[in-house]
Amino acid sequence: MTNLSHIPLIKDQLGRALRDLRISVMDRCNFRCVYCMPEDKFHPGFKFLPSKKRLSFDEMLRLVRIFTKLGVTKIRITGGEPLLRVNLTDFIGDLSTIGNIKDIALTTNGVLLKKYAYELKASGLDRITVSLDSIDPNEFKLMTGGRGDLDRVLSGIDEAQRAGFQRIKINAVIKKGINENNILKMVEYFRDQPVVLRFIEYMDVGTINDWQQQETIPSSEIIELISNKWSLSPIKQNYEGEVASRFIFDDIGTEIGFISSMTNPFCGSCTRARLSSDGKLYNCLFASTGIDIKSWIRSDMDDKTIEEKIVSIWQSRNDRYSELRYLNQNNKDKEKVEMYYIGG
Ligand code: GTP
Ligand code: 5AD
Ligand code: SF4
Ligand code: SF4
Repeated sequence: MTNLSHIPLIKDQLGRALRDLRISVMDRCNFRCVYCMPEDKFHPGFKFLPSKKRLSFDEMLRLVRIFTKLGVTKIRITGGEPLLRVNLTDFIGDLSTIGNIKDIALTTNGVLLKKYAYELKASGLDRITVSLDSIDPNEFKLMTGGRGDLDRVLSGIDEAQRAGFQRIKINAVIKKGINENNILKMVEYFRDQPVVLRFIEYMDVGTINDWQQQETIPSSEIIELISNKWSLSPIKQNYEGEVASRFIFDDIGTEIGFISSMTNPFCGSCTRARLSSDGKLYNCLFASTGIDIKSWIRSDMDDKTIEEKIVSIWQSRNDRYSELRYLNQNNKDKEKVEMYYIGG
């Protein structure tokens, strides 16, 4: 493991270090998931970012180098759908040469994995997470706004395994009334495969999805449903600050996880900063506004000044939206950044 003791840790107002940078490289997506980019709002005339408003890869690399000086060791590439960004594998290749970056992960809907899996492996990508909300072809189609072809995603996952990606994570968001009927079928399909299935509580991210409390199924209910069929035992976190609670199936010893930001928030260990596709820095997935870092790097500001500004942003961070929501202390009418653009 890389020795990072020479890096001065910066802490936010709640004592949290800055360890992870999640970069949204693309605000577009080839799906229209009902809880993220509902078709009626993201219609053919919807104005996504023009390419010049997106950060270029060189700009991202410059920022990543600065962030590593502040303690970042882990990068997650997100979207929209990141594999829609041309030459993404070149970018990952460059990222992997940056000292102190220990882990590069990608969140994708899997449609383009068949095409890119081997290239991604060769570029130096460490891990893949696939968002996949149902194992039933019709339900999957419904969830993805009529666009998702389940077989194609499943064969993308197979291809990624063949390319050498181990323990691929499968993230499934369950929205009540839409895809809760095939949970057990999905567990059955994945539980004896070398992947880690994780169920995510549907969250009130953004405002476009018009989230309603009754649409969220608490993880405890899903755990109970699964435990009635297969006995589960909790296991300890893989690393400090891991968002998923982990369990193993007692009979075969494979893993399953639950991400419960609604019923068991994890803000206390949140070391994540997020960069949107147009170069804004967000302190929280539920933030109203981001800081326009792109304008700094497109001015003649030097790296040291940018670094100092980021330090001061992180040091003043006191976000803990999920905890406040849990305590019923958040402002329900507050504006919130949208998932398709911040990347989850
Ligand atoms: P690794 O543990 O590194 O594999 O990744 P991860 O589980 O931290 O990241 P991933 O993107 O797979 O997270 C899964 C889901 O958890 C996301 O899609 C979000 O829905 C949720 N999530 C991740 N980070 C946060 C966070 O900081 N706050 C909240 N509220 N939810 C988060
Ligand atoms: N609640 C929970 N998870 C969500 N995701 C997108 N929108 C939501 C939401 N409202 C998940 C996606 C993907 C990741 C980027 O975030 O399914 O796995
Ligand atoms: Fe695309 Fe992921 Fe949003 Fe679905 S959840 S529309 S796959 S970005
Ligand atoms: Fe971090 Fe905000 Fe999520 Fe809390 S709600 S874990 S502070 S991103």
